[in-house]
Order: sequence, then structure tokens, then C-alpha cells
Amino acid sequence: MFSIAVLPGDGIGPEVTAPCLAVLQAVGDRFGHRFDFAFAPIGGQAIDEAGCPLPPETLSLCRNADAVLLGALGGPKWEILPAPRRPEAGLLALRQELGLYANLRPAVLYLCLREASPLKDSVTGGAFDMLIVRELTGGLYYGPRGCAGGRAYDTMVYTEREIERIGRRAFALARRRRHKVTSVDKANVLDTSRLWRSVMHRLRDEHPDVGYGDMLVDNAAMQLVRRPADFDVVVTENMFGDILSDLAGMLTGSIGLLPSASLGDGAVAVYEPVHGSAPDIAGQGIANPTAAVLSAAMMLRHSFGLADEAAAVEDAVMAVLAGRKKTADLAVPGDEIVGTSEMGRLIARAIAS
Ligand code: IPM
Ligand code: MN
Repeated sequence: MFSIAVLPGDGIGPEVTAPCLAVLQAVGDRFGHRFDFAFAPIGGQAIDEAGCPLPPETLSLCRNADAVLLGALGGPKWEILPAPRRPEAGLLALRQELGLYANLRPAVLYLCLREASPLKDSVTGGAFDMLIVRELTGGLYYGPRGCAGGRAYDTMVYTEREIERIGRRAFALARRRRHKVTSVDKANVLDTSRLWRSVMHRLRDEHPDVGYGDMLVDNAAMQLVRRPADFDVVVTENMFGDILSDLAGMLTGSIGLLPSASLGDGAVAVYEPVHGSAPDIAGQGIANPTAAVLSAAMMLRHSFGLADEAAAVEDAVMAVLAGRKKTADLAVPGDEIVGTSEMGRLIARAIAS
């Protein structure tokens, strides 16, 4: 039995997590596993119910679970709160408390979705497959900050140890893929980036079988759009990774497709879609649950060691999309538009068959 802490969160979070449970149920039925779900509030919902974005009960539920599945959090309702009490603070605290320094964000353009990509076939070559490895517990997100007297500051801090552990992950992941690492920084301006680069170069020398290149972040934004198929593993610091993963996500057709895994050295990891809580479409049943479902697939693979089961979920998603049943964000003329829960049902049914 695998125990999963489910934190649906705000906006479309609950809508996109519900189909994951149906999909995991279908996986359990087909492969003979039991998944046990325990729910807890985080973000805005937790602020409303418990007065803080990451209640201690939620954190301890996560610590004791085998893995955490998270929806999305935040919304206009809580925007007036000061930063440390906003919903997002709950997610940042969860990442930090669980030591989840490695955020894996695969961005894959599937053949059946090439029409949904904003890029021409002549640019994408019809397909690409990159993995953004974003440092998740350092940099601007966690450095000293303040705002007083008409002056505000945030600080980017990195230690060699923090850079080395994310770098090692990236090289290890590249060895299981196309053996290529692109390290993205801003070494022409930032001291943290110069340290980042020197640590990455040490790792490069330790991994002669892996191709390696440095790229400045502004150039990386351009090259990702210009020749996405050239990228394999992209490793970068927290804020750059946040920005570039939205960009890469959209290149695949919709940010509604992008899953993520947040891993540390400890046992428990968090799986969540890259997209946010999308308050503009919340409650309408039209959100794309694919990113959340593919995050559940990453959970099967990374936390439970169930590679065949993960592949079954991914194949089921592709089969449904190839059958031209899609949520509104992906649909092109000729496709049948389905809602969030119908999409979940179709994926679950494809797993069963
Ligand atoms: C993400 C999100 C978060 C981040 C927000 C909600 C704090 O944008 O997971 O990419 O910036 O890390
Ligand atoms: Mn983001």
C-alpha cells in the first residue's frame, strides 16, 4: 500500500487533483496496488480554515506520507495579505521543510500535439524532449529580504554545496537521457552565477561522457524558442528555472500539460502541475487535468519505483489526445472538446483497457 497526502489547494487545484485519484485507482486495479489518500489544506484554503498557509497538521501528514500530490494554490481573494501570509508562502515552506531542492520539469512536444505548439514544425522539428532541473530551495526565493522607507530588496544567495547537489542530480539525470547538460546562469553579471559556473565545471570534468554547455539566461530564453529540440537537461537556479519552465511549457502547446516532481534526499517528494490555480477558469470544469495526471505518473516512477505503471498512465494520456479528445486549451478545429472530469475518465478508461 502507498499512502499519498493530497493537497488540492485553491482555484482549479481541486478540479485537477480529482481526476488523478481516478487515474491512480485505475492503475491500482490494473496492476494490483492500493493507494491510500489522505487530504489536507494548503494555501488559501488553509488560510481560511486554519489561519496559516501551511498548518502543522498538513506538514506532518506530508512528512508521514509516501508521497505528496499537490494541486495549485493562490488566488485574488488572498492577494491583499502580506507576503509571508499569502498562499504561496505555504508552498515555499513545504518545499523548504521537506528539503525538496530538485525540481524536475519535463517539457515534451508530442507528435499528436504539434499543431497546438505556437512554434512552426520547421522550428521544432515536429518534436522535442527536454528536462528542466530547477534548483528549488535557494536563491531569491529564500534570501534575506525587506521593504522599508520606500526601499525594498531581495537577495540571491547560493552556497557551493547547494549548487553541487543540484548539479549532481542534473548530470545523473542526463546519463539516463541524451547525455547533455546545459547550465543556465547570468555569469556576466552575478557573483552567484560565477560560483554556479565554477561548480558546474568541476562536475563537467567528473562526467566526461556527458556533453556540457553554459548559457546565459537571456540567451537561453531565445535559444529555447529558436531550437528547442537541441536541449536535453537544462539545469538552473530557482528564479531562472521558474521563468524558463513556463516558457518551455507553452512551447509544448499548453502549460496545462507540464508535470513536475520536487525531490530531496529524504524519502518524501511532492508532485504538482507546473501551472497555477488559474482563478479565471476555476469552477467551470474546463481546466486541463493532464499536467496533474502526468505529475501522478512521475510519482509512480520516482517515489514508488513503478515504471511500467507510470508508462501506462503516460500512454493512456497520449492515446486520449491522439484520439483528438482534448480540453479547450489544446483543442484545434476538428478536435472534440471535453471537460476536466471527462478527460480524467477517458484517461482512467484507457488505463483499464
Ligand atoms: C511554480 C510557481 C511557484 C513558484 C509560486 C506559486 C510560488 O510559480 O511552482 O512555478 O514560483 O515556484
Ligand atoms: Mn512558476
